[in-house]
Amino acid sequence: MLPLLLYVTRYVNRTVLYCARFPMGGIGILRLPFWSWSQQDAFHNFTWSRDRFKSFAVAVEAPPYKVNCFCWTHRRVQLAVLLRSKTSTIEKLPSKGREMACLGKRARRYFAPIAFILLFFSSLTKLAVPASPQEAASNSSAATSSASKDAKEPGFPVTDPLVVSKCGACHQPDTKGNLSRISWIRTTPEGWEEAIKRMVRLHGLALEPSDARKILRYLSDDHGLAPDEAKPVAYIAENRMIDEKLPNEEIVHACNACHALGKPLSWRRSADDWKLLANMHIAFFPAIENTSFQRPPRRPDAPPLPPGTDTRPPVEQALSYFAKNAPLQSAEWSEWHASMRTPKLNGRWLVYGTQPGKGRFFGEMSVEAGAAGEAFSTKTKLTYVSDGSVLVESGKGIVYTGYAWRGRENAEQTGSAPDAPKTIREVMMLSRDQSQLEGRWFWGAYQEFGMDVSMRRASESPTVLGVDLYSLKAGSTNSVVRIYGDHLAQDVTPNDLDLGSGVTVKKILSKSPGLVIVNVDVAKGATPGKRDVAVKSAVAPGAFAVYDRVDYVKVTPQTPLAHLGSDVHAKGYCQFEAIAYNNGPDAKSGTADDIELGPVPAQWKLEEFVATYGDDDVEYVGTMNAETGLFTPALDGPNPKRKHSRNNYGDVWAVATVKVAGTDEPLTGKSYLIVSVPQYIRWDQPEVAR
Ligand code: HEC
Ligand code: HEC
Repeated sequence: MLPLLLYVTRYVNRTVLYCARFPMGGIGILRLPFWSWSQQDAFHNFTWSRDRFKSFAVAVEAPPYKVNCFCWTHRRVQLAVLLRSKTSTIEKLPSKGREMACLGKRARRYFAPIAFILLFFSSLTKLAVPASPQEAASNSSAATSSASKDAKEPGFPVTDPLVVSKCGACHQPDTKGNLSRISWIRTTPEGWEEAIKRMVRLHGLALEPSDARKILRYLSDDHGLAPDEAKPVAYIAENRMIDEKLPNEEIVHACNACHALGKPLSWRRSADDWKLLANMHIAFFPAIENTSFQRPPRRPDAPPLPPGTDTRPPVEQALSYFAKNAPLQSAEWSEWHASMRTPKLNGRWLVYGTQPGKGRFFGEMSVEAGAAGEAFSTKTKLTYVSDGSVLVESGKGIVYTGYAWRGRENAEQTGSAPDAPKTIREVMMLSRDQSQLEGRWFWGAYQEFGMDVSMRRASESPTVLGVDLYSLKAGSTNSVVRIYGDHLAQDVTPNDLDLGSGVTVKKILSKSPGLVIVNVDVAKGATPGKRDVAVKSAVAPGAFAVYDRVDYVKVTPQTPLAHLGSDVHAKGYCQFEAIAYNNGPDAKSGTADDIELGPVPAQWKLEEFVATYGDDDVEYVGTMNAETGLFTPALDGPNPKRKHSRNNYGDVWAVATVKVAGTDEPLTGKSYLIVSVPQYIRWDQPEVAR
């Protein structure tokens, strides 16, 4: 279903709002961002009036070739899938699968007349439909040859009988034990889950949940990513909101309009399979050819391009990029897969980290292997150093591919505050020696609340995890520092403690195996920078910073996305933090040597991001808690009080004002907040933790 663009209603910074009209009737607003959101959800920026959206959702849930609708759009798509040789995603399926995936029996009867209509449209549109039967024939021979090329690049045979039996009906096995498509793909547990869900949702695959779990386990373990491959895209599974590093404009054009680039980069495929993936997109979202994959022809009078410019269509440039940067075969994977060990995680783990809005915490998790060795049961207790509050939770964890922890714990006591954790999901990576875990735990309808978590296996030897303070000012005296750890020696004297140059431990105020509290002075001329904290031979590197002055504050997250919500769709909140910085040795702000001094208390407010005449977003998008920096979005839906009854979306500045002791001028920092509509369709894969 293609919305017809009526007119551009507003051009906001890097965002365009379109008014769109749908063939099925009705009008909606589309908001298309032109830069990267590292969110893995597609379509979250589309603003529709609620009823309109329902009909759209039907089209997405059941893609064109399964919709029994005879409107020209759907038929055109079906024919495109059938005729376009490049769309050989379905080419390799046995005829039964193909018929199902492609044209219903009924539709076949309509084939000839529709083909005629199609030829007419193909002359009007850039849809990739061959112009003549001859071209179709030559294209389909190209498909065969691409299939034989696929056979040349060795795949990973599927050795699990369950996978062969459940998937082999459509994904044909070859003589070497490869299943079509599946053997030329590797990805994360989330990636496999997404693919399997689509097989169920769209292609009629029937799976018992227990079988689905076994298949997911096999595919993630034996057709997964090596830790070194998964690490750069960990933010996808961790649901972090960051600005991605983007390779170039053309790839962004082709692949970045609907989802983060981290999504394709979470997959490894043969060059041919990357092409099939593009075809899948064309089949599902036919407009993609016009909006993303191709560029309109250059005008004859356009200035010549600089020599050496890659003039291939964006999609082709993107496919070469992924074939090169995300290849099926890699040294990392063969090395990891051969050496992968079963995780043995039983025992006591020390947990520490930070939660935006609440600060640092320390605690423990006890891990116990389940009977089948599949899932670990976990019990966790964390204490926040800021207010001494405690979070107790218990649940389960699974480790895929020898390192990918996916856990889920329920908090024992849940408050009514929007950011109070109920079910917490845990995405972490296990170190190769199985002694450390690192990642993010998160909750909230958009996983927008969360914490950075590190875990260390408790041992018999003393361990220092860190301290409560983020930073100490040079020249400060009598500061109380709490040193958290495990098995901390009880005979420690101030001489056994080392907090780095310029920091003198005057007195030990109290000591227990998990906590030593000390009194320190910092010398006037102490060099600004990070300090390690050592208790005898145990060390926590870079545990806090010493600084001479606060030079600037930065608001995090820098470019977040919040979502309006109502009783129907949950709100997407945003917890801001003001982080203080020292300029470092070069005395310049924003350079690599700047010293992070940790979060500081701030006064919070919203300010208009002026983008149009009479911009009024700040009055509608929601409210900012002046003390805590928690942004609560407004209600979703057309607002009669607003001009043109617009929804409450908009873009604003989130501004922090920080008073620095000893100076009159407060420091300010701001971040650019977009408040969008709810995410009507969820692409997250929460089940991998079950
Ligand atoms: C009823 C037929 C059918 C069955 C059974 C089936 N598939 Fe598929 N599969 C398809 C079709 C059709 C496509 C191509 C269209 C698409 O990508 O959705 C496909 C494509 C794929 C892809 C490529 C997706 C991509 O990202 O490009 C993967 C991976 C996959 N299937 C995995 C599986 C697994 C794993 C199973 C078994 C658990 C399975 N399929 C069972 C029909 C099937
Ligand atoms: C029109 C929006 C759009 C554009 C542009 C787009 N994608 Fe997607 N892509 C989607 C959606 C929606 C899904 C989820 C499909 C599903 O599972 O039903 C998806 C899924 C994927 C997946 C997961 C595959 C799977 O089996 O679920 C990969 C990988 C991917 N896209 C890569 C790309 C690449 C590479 C490009 C650029 C060449 C691209 N996408 C461009 C919308 C888009």
